[in-house]
Parts: sequence; C-alpha cells; structure tokens
Amino acid sequence: MLRDVDLLWALRSPCNLGCTYCYFGTVEEHREKPVAQAGQLSHLSRNDVSLDGIARFAATLADSPVRRVFLAGGEPLLWPPVLEIVETIKRGGIQVVLCTNGLPLARNAIARRIVELGVDAVSVSLDGDRAAVNDRYRPSRNGKDGFEQVLAGVRNLSKWRARDNATLPRIGLYAVIGRHNIASVNTVPRLAADLGLDYFVPQPLHLDAEHALHDELSLRQQDIAAVRAELDRLWRSRPVDLPDTTYPSQFLTALTPGSPHHVEGCFGGTRLHFIEPDGSVWDCPSGLKIAATPAEQHRSIRNHSAADLFTHDGTCADCGLFSADCLPMWPLTGFSSFLTKRRP
Ligand SMILES: C[S@@+](CC[C@H](N)C(=O)[O-])C[C@H]1O[C@@H](n2cnc3c(N)ncnc32)[C@H](O)[C@@H]1O
Ligand code: SF4
Repeated sequence: MLRDVDLLWALRSPCNLGCTYCYFGTVEEHREKPVAQAGQLSHLSRNDVSLDGIARFAATLADSPVRRVFLAGGEPLLWPPVLEIVETIKRGGIQVVLCTNGLPLARNAIARRIVELGVDAVSVSLDGDRAAVNDRYRPSRNGKDGFEQVLAGVRNLSKWRARDNATLPRIGLYAVIGRHNIASVNTVPRLAADLGLDYFVPQPLHLDAEHALHDELSLRQQDIAAVRAELDRLWRSRPVDLPDTTYPSQFLTALTPGSPHHVEGCFGGTRLHFIEPDGSVWDCPSGLKIAATPAEQHRSIRNHSAADLFTHDGTCADCGLFSADCLPMWPLTGFSSFLTKRRP
C-alpha cells in the first residue's frame, strides 16, 4: 500500500509547562473562564479520548495510507501509556516523531524506551540558548523546571542513543520565534550543534490579535528585515540540518501584512491531517481553516479507523487561508530529509 499521509496528533491535553503563548491557552485563564467553543484547545480539557479509544484507533493505522505520525499535545510524554501507543504504531510499520518540551526525557525509563522502540525522531522545544531567554515565556508549572532541565533531558536521550550505538531517534530543536527572541534563529541551532543534535526548525509565534501578549510577542512588518537577516545567516551557516530552502520565504510571507495568503496545492487535508485530543480530525491546525470547515465535514477518530478517515486521492487543493498558523506544517511535510540525511 502506498503510504504518503502524515498525521499531527495532539494526543492529550495536560502539560507540565505553562508557556504563556501556548495554543492550548493557560490553566489559569481556563480555570477562570472554562472553554466552551468546539475545537478550542485547553490543558484542562475533559474530553480527551480515553486510552481504549486511542489504542483502538492506533491499531488501525497499520492498514491505512499513514506513513508518519507526529505525536504532540499538550505534553505527550507526561502520559504514562504513550509509549504503549508508540509501540502499537511502530509495530504497524509507521514512523513516529515525538514532539516534546524535553523535560520527561531526563527520566531514564522514558529515554531508554524511546531508543529501544526505534522512535524515528524527537523534536524538543526550546526558545533560547539560555534560561533568561527561554524560561520567561516557557515557565514550568512547578516553578523549578526550565532551560537546564530541558538540556538535561536532551543530553540523557543522546546518551541512551549513543549507548545503544543507535542512529535513531534523530534529535532536533524547535524554537518559537517572537519579537523577544529573534536572535534565537541562530543561537538555538548553534546550541543544537554543540549538543551533537541533528536538526533545527524556527517557527513564528502565532497569537490572535485579542491575545494579551499579541502586541508584546507577535512578529510584525517592522521585524521582517531583522528576521530575514537571521534566516539568511542560518541557511548560509547550516550548523545542523534545516527545512528546505523554500522555508525562509514561507516564514517571511506568513509575517507579511495582508495575511491570510493564497497557496497552491496545499497538503492540508490530503497528505497531512491534524487530530485534536478530543478526537476531532481537521485538514490542518489553522484556526481559520477549522472555522471554515462546514459541519458536515467534521470528522473524529472515535469509532473510525484510519483507513476510513484518510484516503489519499493525490489531489492537493489550493488554499486562501495561509498564515503564521500554518507555517509549522511545512517542515512536517518535508521531515523525510531529517530522517535520511546523515551529518558527517
Ligand atoms: C503545542 S506544543 C506540544 C508539544 C510539546 N508540549 C512541546 O512544547 O513541544 C507543539 C509546538 O507548538 C509550539 N507552540 C505552542 N504555542 C504556539 C504559538 N502560539 N505559536 C507558535 N508555536 C506555538 C510549541 O513551542 C511546540 O514547539
Ligand atoms: S510545553 Fe508545549 S504544550 Fe506545554 S505549554 Fe508549552 S507549548 Fe504548550
């Protein structure tokens, strides 16, 4: 069977960090004002699919066109059964990429099992090359963990990989770039190289205009020159593997006023799909796209198999809703290069 569909699966909602810009909002705001809107993400969600429901759906992936699953959240590695789910997916011959805040990787049982299971890649989020830059907007809920503990997690996973002489998982860093950390476009990949990691992806911070931190953090037209200079420098120096050369221009387009923009042949809904913790399946994680999806096209993994939901007919439709919200999808569709390239 041709396997050419990728899934970004936000598996569970809870998290041990309280990133102030997170797509899931903050626990504090949702305690005060619980979410009511369908599709709205929350770390306090009570509608996450149960372990049984997740396990049942994961077992159906083997007979579907799905090639690769990116497991995110919330924090996927906080949920103890996650590695059983990874085992089921891998047994079906499907690649797994774990997207994590990195803190749980400091636990030997988790890091060792990730290597044993042959997880294909682990993407760790880090917004700066030091605590002062990273921890301000990515604080932990326990008030103790932060940059240093994320580094400890990354080093521990690298240690278990080296101990087994394994080439997998590939390990990379993801940095969310806002007005406060434009320099991280280059400082974080240099840190990745120093740590012996494999790849780096910068992604633009995206917040709705009504968000309390929008004016403080969201990149805008005045920032484009500085961001372009950093991206140019990074793609010239390439300290680790990077997304393909079209990515910097997509990044800058997403910041250009007049957004949303038009893209031809978008992979959303054909080669890539997004699953929310409540089981909803969308073409992509863009809030604009989700809002534009007619009720009769709403789908869910609850009581459906992957083969029912993902039937790739090869046609990618043009989309007029491209924005910073979509940009994290581009490196996911080109992820194969991170798995196949071997740095010297
Ligand atoms: C929602 S997190 C889930 C996985 C894991 N907890 C982590 O932090 O990597 C997935 C990615 O989205 C990024 N992210 C969260 N909120 C964002 C926002 N408002 N704009 C851009 N990226 C965001 C995170 O930094 C992370 O790289
Ligand atoms: S670690 Fe990930 S899921 Fe958790 S608050 Fe931060 S961005 Fe959101």
